[in-house]
Amino acid sequence: MTQMRVVPPAEFAAAAVAAFLDALRGLSAPVLGLPTGRTMEPMYEHLRRCTFPVQPADAFAIDEYCWADAAHPGLNAAFFARMVVDGPLPVVHVPRADAIDPAAAIGAHCQAIDACGGLDLVVLGIGENGHIAFNEPGSAEDAPCRVVRLAAATRAQLADSWAESPSFGMTIGMMEILAAKRVVLLANGVSKQAVLAAALRGPRTAALPASLLQGHPNLRVVVDHDAAGQL
Ligand code: GLP
Repeated sequence: MTQMRVVPPAEFAAAAVAAFLDALRGLSAPVLGLPTGRTMEPMYEHLRRCTFPVQPADAFAIDEYCWADAAHPGLNAAFFARMVVDGPLPVVHVPRADAIDPAAAIGAHCQAIDACGGLDLVVLGIGENGHIAFNEPGSAEDAPCRVVRLAAATRAQLADSWAESPSFGMTIGMMEILAAKRVVLLANGVSKQAVLAAALRGPRTAALPASLLQGHPNLRVVVDHDAAGQL
């Protein structure tokens, strides 16, 4: 089942929230996989004021940078500390950016997800190169959670808060994403138009990891008119 909503830019945040809440319905004590990124900020702002149909049991970041300064404002940990406060979302577990052994840190993160029985709902943005979480082009369906070298396009996309951008990240794998019971994919803005069309209408290929979501049994896609283009 794939549901797609295309909405005017002004309605994007509300539609994203509606898809998130709809995806929660019928789950019991759901375990969430949550993203960062500019696409998500309005959604998290709205979610603070929402009543959830069920209370999530736990929440896990889908990725994090590898970075020696754990207090850097560009880190996903900092994003969640800013955006996920005073609301119904649980505290989001994030692997430590400054872990001495990042492979062990992301391994432990994914073991904790496994110990919860996997993700019930994962929310995803999309990178301009088709990445989801930090599963960069070339990530196949069986790509596990791991440390990755970030693609040049991903580094170029980073927020202004990075004077020098990280070269590596930690990510949940395509395995954990595709095994999630429900997926919500969000995209807005013209910069996502080409990649979104390729991901949703092009061939399923590891060259464009977001395209591997095609055929997921429970996928909700919310896009604004700018990102939808000719979809
Ligand atoms: C980032 C993150 C993704 C995010 C995507 C889109 O690099 N790793 O989890 O969804 O790229 O980011 P944005 O919403 O800022 O365009």
